[in-house]
Amino acid sequence: MKGIFVSFEGIEGTGKSTQARLLSEYLTGKGLRVIKTEEPGGTRISLKIREILLSLDSRGMDHVTELLLYNASRSQHIKEVIMPALERGDVVITDRFSDSTVAYQGYGRDIDLKLIDSLDKISTGGLKPDITILLDIDVETGLRRNKEINKNDRLEQEDIVFHQKVRSGFIKIAEREPERVKMIDCFDGIDAVHKKVVDMVKGFLDKRISCKKTDRNAENSLQ
Ligand code: TMP
Repeated sequence: MKGIFVSFEGIEGTGKSTQARLLSEYLTGKGLRVIKTEEPGGTRISLKIREILLSLDSRGMDHVTELLLYNASRSQHIKEVIMPALERGDVVITDRFSDSTVAYQGYGRDIDLKLIDSLDKISTGGLKPDITILLDIDVETGLRRNKEINKNDRLEQEDIVFHQKVRSGFIKIAEREPERVKMIDCFDGIDAVHKKVVDMVKGFLDKRISCKKTDRNAENSLQ
């Protein structure tokens, strides 16, 4: 695959959407072709699923129904938007991806992680981000920030214990996959976090470019 796949993850109120937008603007400014997208969403069908998932009318939704809907939305998103862009060689930046399902439905709802992994293989075909930026903040600050901007969907209405389980789930994912998942404390202001994000993504891009050069040298030495 020619493109680069970047995901942003984190609990509520970490400023993921802002950071995804700023990174997208930065990379576009450097001449790269960037697709910025989000989950659940990114396509007409996935947005309809998002509405069902986040509406306050959906209170009482069964946890397995919830898990299946997030996966359904992802499958559509990958086929319609993410894979075509990666095959064209674009940079895809998504605000949330599979790690959110592990953190919210796995650690938050206590659904078996092996079941989540099996379903993930079906909906993603094994596609994983090349780099994941995990924005971390304490739960109280995150929820307060979202209240201040009147963001209040079905998941945000969960109690504090749920959100704490989700946060520690994200931290466990980062500990398990330190190569892919880079954690940033986002208590600092937007600009300071953006600078850290750019440094991390630049580090990844430099490594990717030098690997490509090494591959080419190896090919040349074989000729
Ligand atoms: P947000 O992207 O606007 O924060 O809204 C998405 C909500 O859906 C957020 O509360 C996290 C939740 N979510 C899951 O529970 N599982 C998932 O797989 C994804 C992508 C999001």
